[in-house]
Amino acid sequence: MSSSPVASSSVSLTRFLIESERAGHIEPDLRLLIEVVARACKSISIAVGKGALGGVLGDAGGGEASINIQGEAQKKLDVLSNEILLEANAWGGHLAALASEEMDHAVRIPDHYPRGRYLLLFDPLDGSSNIDVNISVGTIFSVLCCPDCIEGPTDADFLQPGTSQVAAGYCTYGPSTMLVLTVGHGTHAFTLDREIGSFMLTTRNMRIPEETKEFAVNMSNQRFWEAPMQAYVGDLLAGKDGPRGKDFNMRWVASMVADVHRILTRGGIFAYPLDSKCASKGGKLRLMYEANPMSLLVEQAGGAASTGRQRMLEVQPTGLHQRVPVFLGSRNEVEAAERYHLEHDTPQRERAYEGSAVNVA
Ligand code: AHG
Ligand code: MN
Ligand code: MN
Repeated sequence: MSSSPVASSSVSLTRFLIESERAGHIEPDLRLLIEVVARACKSISIAVGKGALGGVLGDAGGGEASINIQGEAQKKLDVLSNEILLEANAWGGHLAALASEEMDHAVRIPDHYPRGRYLLLFDPLDGSSNIDVNISVGTIFSVLCCPDCIEGPTDADFLQPGTSQVAAGYCTYGPSTMLVLTVGHGTHAFTLDREIGSFMLTTRNMRIPEETKEFAVNMSNQRFWEAPMQAYVGDLLAGKDGPRGKDFNMRWVASMVADVHRILTRGGIFAYPLDSKCASKGGKLRLMYEANPMSLLVEQAGGAASTGRQRMLEVQPTGLHQRVPVFLGSRNEVEAAERYHLEHDTPQRERAYEGSAVNVA
């Protein structure tokens, strides 16, 4: 029998979610929420697919730069994707509030609609620098639960660690449009069947190989990295002749969604480490709607995700737009990167004691 991942192609996202509900993995409102996000992603996919013909390329703001809370210039598709997700999620009754890369603060569901107990965070369009050059971009989302904040949700209600996520996913707008989803019971990939307009399950239970020979990092930042990162990548580049004893390949799309999708599919490590350009902000990527959802997807596929010094999902957030260093992917490689940081942070004398039979307690 074929082991092709397409073997389960007759399972639509709708059927998968209903079966997840029957299995007790999700509640009806979470099922509705995911369906609504998936529908919004289909609309974004259509807009992305039109490219120049849809008038969606280029900068937002009509001549004057439009700058978001991150201090980054917005593209037309950043703004459009944000609006599509907001509009789709406003009226269903499943959400208390939404937060986005493109909005300064969380937005409450308007009073004239019922409010539910879920909180939705998203990066509406990830990989903005690739929009105008026809390279894969995506949408990332994270779902939290807040039964006590239905009446008056605020930014503070979103500040829950990644372990509290009840669902996370991304949609990649590439040669095919794919939705990759977890509700805490494995990571599953769905491919958009454009003829019937439905996401179909194409890989159940994605698994990331523990070992890898591929890394993804923006090498142009090398001279700005911390010492442990310099040492780690130096050893990867040394290949067979270095301490790692094998040659590594490198890939960098500069769309986190596309890089993570490759890693979920065939392994690898993705790193956006701390560097002296972004150190004052804590890193480049955002914890709540980039690092946390991707980390849950990766862990649910057997991989690991870390800041280099701590499990990503255990970071206690302090701000909606907080940034963090990111290392995620094949388990053994993420653990190797962590060791370089640990060894750098631990004074040499302490390390010598740990390695000897001397009891220093
Ligand atoms: P966004 O487009 O949502 O701002 O995110 C861009 C992120 C991420 O997708 C990618 O991995 C990284 O920025 C690329 O950074 P460089 O431009 O430094 O390569
Ligand atoms: Mn992003
Ligand atoms: Mn974005």
